[in-house]
Amino acid sequence: MKTVKDYIRTIPDFPHEGIMFRDVTTLFSDPRGMRLAIDQMLAPYVGTRIDKVVGLEARGFILGGAVAHQLSVGFVPVRKKGKLPGKVISQDYSLEYGQATVEMHTDAIEAGEKILVVDDLLATGGTAEAGITLIERLGGEIVSCSFVVDLPELGGRKKLAGLGYDVHCLCDFEGA
Ligand code: PRP
Ligand code: MG
Repeated sequence: MKTVKDYIRTIPDFPHEGIMFRDVTTLFSDPRGMRLAIDQMLAPYVGTRIDKVVGLEARGFILGGAVAHQLSVGFVPVRKKGKLPGKVISQDYSLEYGQATVEMHTDAIEAGEKILVVDDLLATGGTAEAGITLIERLGGEIVSCSFVVDLPELGGRKKLAGLGYDVHCLCDFEGA
């Protein structure tokens, strides 16, 4: 029986030399892989109140949309700067390779809503932390953060846990 990790392809030296890129497109393109991943992402939250799923661009949209559908709750995108058409709040962050800014519509979350954050991969935790900051600035309450892949050597999981957030990852890869 294949595990979620078995469906993920590793591409060396992408997008830069020395980076082992963990490619989840091979997980997404397999119907058993996709179902397995979404079922496992949902499992920890049975019986937990979740009002909205926030997905982090770009692969967090694919997973977050499926998770939101299964939970019958709304989906909110955290997008890279300049993509959202309405009034936004912005947050700068550093990622594994480079700098970026993410944005969220100011009316996407109401104060007190319980939020599940979803993305494909947790590396340094910079992207997730930026998304969390946006959610909390709008008064949302983080229930948990769910990822398919953790890269433990990059410390994101420890960072988020150290800040008091609940974190779930389906698998991890050493040698980030
Ligand atoms: C990757 C990955 C996560 C993020 C994790 O996205 O999909 O979103 O990096 O890194 P971090 O924990 O160090 O922040 P990327 O920024 O490459 O953009 P994409 O998802 O839009 O391709
Ligand atoms: Mg991403």
